[in-house]
Amino acid sequence: MEEFIQNMPKAELHLHIEGTFEPELMFEIAQRNQISIPYASVEELKNAYKFSCLQDFLDIYYQGAQVLQHEKDFYDLTMAYLKKCKEQNIRHTEIMFDPQTHTERGIPFESVLTGIHNACLDAQKEFGISFVLIMSFLRHLSEEEAFKTLKQAEPFKDKIMAIGLDSSEKGNPPLKFVRVFQAAVEQGYIPLAHAGEEGDADYIWQAIDLLQVHRIDHGNNCITDRNLVEEIIERDLALTVCPLSNVALKVVPNIDKHPLKIMMQLGLYLTINSDDPAYFGGYINENFNAIQNSLDLSRWDLYTLAKNSFVYSLASFDEKSKYL
Ligand code: ADE
Ligand code: ZN
Repeated sequence: MEEFIQNMPKAELHLHIEGTFEPELMFEIAQRNQISIPYASVEELKNAYKFSCLQDFLDIYYQGAQVLQHEKDFYDLTMAYLKKCKEQNIRHTEIMFDPQTHTERGIPFESVLTGIHNACLDAQKEFGISFVLIMSFLRHLSEEEAFKTLKQAEPFKDKIMAIGLDSSEKGNPPLKFVRVFQAAVEQGYIPLAHAGEEGDADYIWQAIDLLQVHRIDHGNNCITDRNLVEEIIERDLALTVCPLSNVALKVVPNIDKHPLKIMMQLGLYLTINSDDPAYFGGYINENFNAIQNSLDLSRWDLYTLAKNSFVYSLASFDEKSKYL
């Protein structure tokens, strides 16, 4: 089965570029930027990756991202992930980035975007991997801050296809971002959002009704509300499921208890993704392998998940048609 998973062409639809920051690269970039990391070694840093909830993880994830300062840092980070994509037979990827994590500490929006985008262009040329960029708003920050970010993105609009909503979910409902999402959609961005990872089903209702999202990031908690499940299916919305992330952040007690199979049986359209692979123990193939082993998925199940990743991607029709 591992070979079958490796050989399947796949698209990744839920991936935070800051979450691909491997400890080795973090130390290397910290050294060249002369920034000190509060851990003595790669081993010590890895040992700190034990989380009891989303916030625990976010604290360490934002700390790690502080090391990124220059366009080249963003290029190197993104290229390292795209090389993984090549190794794992990921043919299309939709990369989220959090500009506010960087602009808040004085890094120009342009350095972040240009570094990421140039790496994507090079990987497209060298490896044939297509890509989409998703600019995510940090939901623990204000609506005003999100509007500022939308303004900063204006000169680079042609390079960013969609907007997302991430960070601390509880207490920061989609409702808080309705106006900025409306403004972004008027400018041509496609709306996406994390919902129902730690937040309850009501947050998913808000994401689909108020933000009009085209896809739901995570969405696990929809299974507590039968009407919501029906509505998601009726509207043909996919959920980007991240199994190893869910285990690492205690969204599920362990991988054997992951609701993925139940969700598939309910008729939901699912994809498999790695979320923050450097922090959660694996890239897309490790996620597929873990879920296949624990839930005894068939080849048909795996094929369906991989096919969904292209069907529900934002890739152009020409790109998609290579794989469907
Ligand atoms: N930012 C990076 N990973 C995230 C996750 N799993 N949930 C919310 N925000 C995030
Ligand atoms: Zn995420």
